[in-house]
Amino acid sequence: MGSPSALPSVLVAGGAGYIGSHTAKALLRAGFQPVVLDNLSTGHRTAVNYGPFYEGSISDAALLGEIAAAHRPVGAILFAGYIAVGESTQNPSKYFHNNVVEPMQFLDHYRELDLPQNVVFSSSAAVYGIQGSDPIAESSPMDPLSPYAETKLFFERVLRWYGSAYGVKSACLRYFNAAGADPDGELGECHGPETHLIPLALAALTEGAPLRVFGTDYATPDGTAIRDYIHVTDLADAHIRALRHLMNDGSASFVANLGTGTGTSVREVIQMVERVAGKTVPVEYGPRRDGDAPALVADASYVRELLGWVPQHSSLESIIRTAWAWHTREARR
Ligand code: UFG
Repeated sequence: MGSPSALPSVLVAGGAGYIGSHTAKALLRAGFQPVVLDNLSTGHRTAVNYGPFYEGSISDAALLGEIAAAHRPVGAILFAGYIAVGESTQNPSKYFHNNVVEPMQFLDHYRELDLPQNVVFSSSAAVYGIQGSDPIAESSPMDPLSPYAETKLFFERVLRWYGSAYGVKSACLRYFNAAGADPDGELGECHGPETHLIPLALAALTEGAPLRVFGTDYATPDGTAIRDYIHVTDLADAHIRALRHLMNDGSASFVANLGTGTGTSVREVIQMVERVAGKTVPVEYGPRRDGDAPALVADASYVRELLGWVPQHSSLESIIRTAWAWHTREARR
């Protein structure tokens, strides 16, 4: 809860999570008051430090009404999604409910409120499925290979139709591989269970259980899979630019990739972790993980042109340094 701010408020649904909490911090720095709504099912109360907090469901009409009355947000940023690709194939109901049904209920309540209808949505490069090795543009074919990916594409389409029918303006941001931690050390990545490469490589250093490398037989220069790692602080900045763009009269809804355009292999990540930490990562090599693409690299030219967004923190070294600083700090707690 909190009292009204002199700053324009932005509703951050899922603002206790990894990207949401970094975005809340960036919003405050950019002159907005983040108002976080999160049910804490996967987020962390300790990551909500930059404005009022409401604990509850994004589909709770009464709670949304209360937030609207108290803060009059100029827009909403919709994180609040489940993200585990593997789990989504085991339990699609959980994913369609949380990532489609509840966000639709949210939208239906939100558009009943007398508020500017600007919505920034967390989408994913997962909508593209497995492509060739060329950078992926927004116009590339889409082939969602998991319920998780389907939910992201489905909700993009919901937003498109809600735009033409009800005037909701939206920005769907397709993240490539979010990584790194707040450069001030206040926030970081903490999923349970963790499935992502960089936090697992760091945990292998401090906890000793080897990192399993999924596949060394890809048709890539070193045989391991290639991804486009983008620093979470750069992602946060892109959300603010997207929101500001939507707030401008006359601007239209859009869909954009958020990546650097540079591919990095699993082996290159491990080498950088070793360089930054000064220790050898214990590794065991295993078969490919089901559903993994050999290479996923963004063509990020559209968003650079549209929003003037140029990643500032996304060198591999900066990603690993900030993630390692966060990891060692958390390990000491
Ligand atoms: N990897 C390993 N060992 C691990 C974990 C990952 O070798 O223990 C490899 C993966 O095979 C992949 C790379 O490291 O080649 C990156 O894997 P992550 O699990 O960190 O990330 P993904 O590329 O699988 O997933 C990301 C996002 C998802 C999104 C997906 C597709 O986290 O939300 O990209 O765009 F769906």
